[in-house]
Amino acid sequence: EKGGFEHFMLKEIYEQPKALRDTMTSRLDAAAKTIGFPELNWTAEELREINKIFIVACGTAYHAGIVGKYYLEQLARVPVEVDIASEFRYRDPLVDGNSLTIVISQSGETSDTLAALREAKRLGSRTLAVTNVVGSSIAREADQVVYTYAGPEIAVASTKAYTTQLLAMLMLAIYVGRLRGSMSAEREQELVRGLTFVPEQIHKMLENVDQIKVFAREYGSSEDAFFLGRSLDYAVALEGALKLKEISYIHAEAYAAGELKHGTLALIVSGVPVIVLATQMDVYDKTVSNLQEVKAREAVVIAIGFEGDTSLEKYADHVIYIPRTDKYLAPLMAVLPLQLLAYYAALTRGCDVDKPRNLAKSVTVE
Ligand code: F6R
Repeated sequence: EKGGFEHFMLKEIYEQPKALRDTMTSRLDAAAKTIGFPELNWTAEELREINKIFIVACGTAYHAGIVGKYYLEQLARVPVEVDIASEFRYRDPLVDGNSLTIVISQSGETSDTLAALREAKRLGSRTLAVTNVVGSSIAREADQVVYTYAGPEIAVASTKAYTTQLLAMLMLAIYVGRLRGSMSAEREQELVRGLTFVPEQIHKMLENVDQIKVFAREYGSSEDAFFLGRSLDYAVALEGALKLKEISYIHAEAYAAGELKHGTLALIVSGVPVIVLATQMDVYDKTVSNLQEVKAREAVVIAIGFEGDTSLEKYADHVIYIPRTDKYLAPLMAVLPLQLLAYYAALTRGCDVDKPRNLAKSVTVE
């Protein structure tokens, strides 16, 4: 059942190329280089009426929502708020008939997310579910559904569901962006072209993970770890920290790199592992200067950057390279080494990778 893998989590990490391909296939016209959603019955008119989008989810799905906010705001030019479901449902949100509420849930059964969906509907919002389980409660109750086709996810720690959620959010943003007239056809073509390469690029990345195993062994006994990034890299850093915490029990925190000196820098001491994501070129110099700040405090810095960006080697102790790609596609690849780091760190520490203590796969109670 684990297909030759030691754990479901590792199997699911390796299933990501297929999961992404399956999630893309029916929505992507590779010849025309456009995105379409045959399952959505929105008119351009209706989409133009939407003046605010709420994205609501828990845990890893919430982290996918944060990435989704960047996508939707930048490509579709609609203001987006991202909420943790257990907060949204009790905070009397300013949702109305011109809002669209997108709930993201792998299982489609998370109690807080379901309650948030009901609350959004009660307030008159249009609703859309991004979920992996056909016929789940959330799929049944939302006005519209976009399925991720990750296949069954058994490990408690979400991996392939997350990357397919990112993909679904990106495709949605492109689609809404075109229908609202906020994105050029050229930009769409560029992104679609980039997307078609991603499954194969990830497949190649997964063929060589020796470097990550070495880091996991070397730093697996640390008490703390920090993840830094700006913009989309920050959103991915949040997911990297959660993965490490939940399966290896190493205390991990993600910070927007610029926020470091407002407090957390006090915790950066000699030997602390700091993972710095540096894939977003518009904020690259700023990120590198934050990297130098932690390096000056003798942290052990592992940078994640694009192939060919050898300048990172001047500042970081180690560099993990990901294939060079569009800034919006980088999260799909940058999260991979973070998933693997968490997995191999957990293994080194003898943790129960697929069933971390105190956690359940689907949280159907509040
Ligand atoms: C972390 C993880 C959880 C879930 C969260 C939401 O790896 O799996 O944080 O993402 O419980 O679950 P779904 O997506 O099923 O609503």
